[in-house]
This record gives sequence, C-alpha cells and structure tokens, in this order.
Amino acid sequence: MAEVVIVPSAEEAGRLAADAIIRLIARKPNAVLGLATGSTPLSTYAALAERATAEAGDLTHVRGFALDEYLGLPADHPESYRAVITREVVEPLGLTPPNIHVPNGSPDGIETAGDDYERAIVAAGGVDLQILGIGTDGHVGFNEPGSSFASLTRVKTLTEQTRRDNARFFAAQNAGEASDAVPMHCITQGLGTILRARHLVLLAFGAAKAAAVAAAVEGPVTASQPGSIIQLHPHTTVIIDEAAAADLANADYYRHAWLNRPAWQQL
Ligand code: F6R
Repeated sequence: MAEVVIVPSAEEAGRLAADAIIRLIARKPNAVLGLATGSTPLSTYAALAERATAEAGDLTHVRGFALDEYLGLPADHPESYRAVITREVVEPLGLTPPNIHVPNGSPDGIETAGDDYERAIVAAGGVDLQILGIGTDGHVGFNEPGSSFASLTRVKTLTEQTRRDNARFFAAQNAGEASDAVPMHCITQGLGTILRARHLVLLAFGAAKAAAVAAAVEGPVTASQPGSIIQLHPHTTVIIDEAAAADLANADYYRHAWLNRPAWQQL
C-alpha cells in the first residue's frame, strides 16, 4: 500500500517531499529525479530552491527527466515544459542544464523521440525518485484514462478535460475557446516507465483532485484510472492536503499510521 500523508497545506507537502529529495541527493549526489510540471510540484521546487544546496551540498551532478512535453510548441514558448522546467527547477536550484532532459516535442523526429527518451533514462541508471501530480481525470504524466500499464514514452492525445484544466497556463494565448491554445498532443513517459522509478512521490492539492486521489489510492487497479498504478509500486508516498483527501475511505487510518510511524521511518 502507498504511504498516505495528509498535511494542512501545499507548503507543508512541499517541505516533506523536499526532505525526501534532499536525503536522496545527500546520499547520491548524481541522483536521477523524475520531474513533474504543472502547479502541484511548485511548493516542492520552492522548498528545494530554498534548502537543497545548504542541506544536500553540491547539486551540479543531479540529473533529471521531465515526465512529458507538449507536441509542436515552439522551443521558446513559455509554456513548453522545457521552458517551465528551466524556469521552475533548473535555474532556481542551480542544476546543470545538460543533465536535465525533457522529451522532444518537436514534430521533426517525433517517431523516434519516445524510444530515444527511454534509452536515455536507462543509460542514466533509471529514475531514483519520481515526483507526480495527478489530473482531475486521473492521468499521471499525460497518460490519459485507458493508457496501458506497460506503456513507455510515446505520443498521446490529451482529453478535452485536461486541455480545459491546463488552459489557465495559456491564458495569454487564449482567444476563442479557453482550451484552444493548449496543444492537443503530447509526448509522455508511459505508465510502464513511471513504474520503473524506484520511489514515486504523488502530490495533490484541492477538492478538484479528491475523486482522482481516492480512485488512485483506494479504487480498483484499472487503466480507466491511470493513477491507480501506484498500487502496483512497492514504494509510493502520497502527500495530499485535506481537500484532496476528502474522498478517502481510510483517511483516519492514514493519519493514525503517520502520527504513530516508527522513529526510524522516513519518507
Ligand atoms: C505534468 C503532468 C501532469 C500533471 C497533472 C496535474 O508534468 O504530468 O500529470 O501533474 O496534470 O496538473 P496540476 O499540477 O497543474 O494540477
């Protein structure tokens, strides 16, 4: 079972996730991080920017692989995940740019971009700690409902729900329908790719995520709820706020287990 930690705020969640990442980097200075984008991991990245160098030491050897990228956005588009990762992670943490990889969303060579990305992850020795958000429709990475549990990095079509959810990031470009500016296609690590990471840390905040969180943590393991793959992973930590925990049947047990965790137990 995933360890479920219910916290009062996204800031507290970010502190806990950062604790785990800092411990990992202190132990393994060239650790491989799996990097999510979107709003959910921002408190984790902010906590890391504040504390990681002081607490973990040199970060220049840290390596990273983004979960996904939109297809066909110009390289300099501010909402391309390459740009987001550079702005939110690489620059504030002082990481070494060539160490940080993002799937290639350029239409040129898209047929081989997924395989290339998989090879790069394997060559790096695999992902040590994968940060995950979850979509309101249950997606992780951009693996929309129905994605194969064995899937590897490949092109996917976003659901209209995901495009609407992400329209807020493209507000400046929106003219007609709110979601029109959000690309329809993406390239994403597969559920099989994500399952190979050694530690999954799934974060979720707010009432809009409650149903997806409950389905991921307690629902049947089904491709209709891609987040439910966490139940197949031997080491998953779910860190959520009260609103995102609202639909969990066993919330009281998770609180009890966290309050009474053995002194030696770390995330
Ligand atoms: C982002 C990603 C997505 C997001 C999810 C939640 O790299 O892969 O799965 O984590 O769409 O997005 P936010 O955090 O913006 O609610």
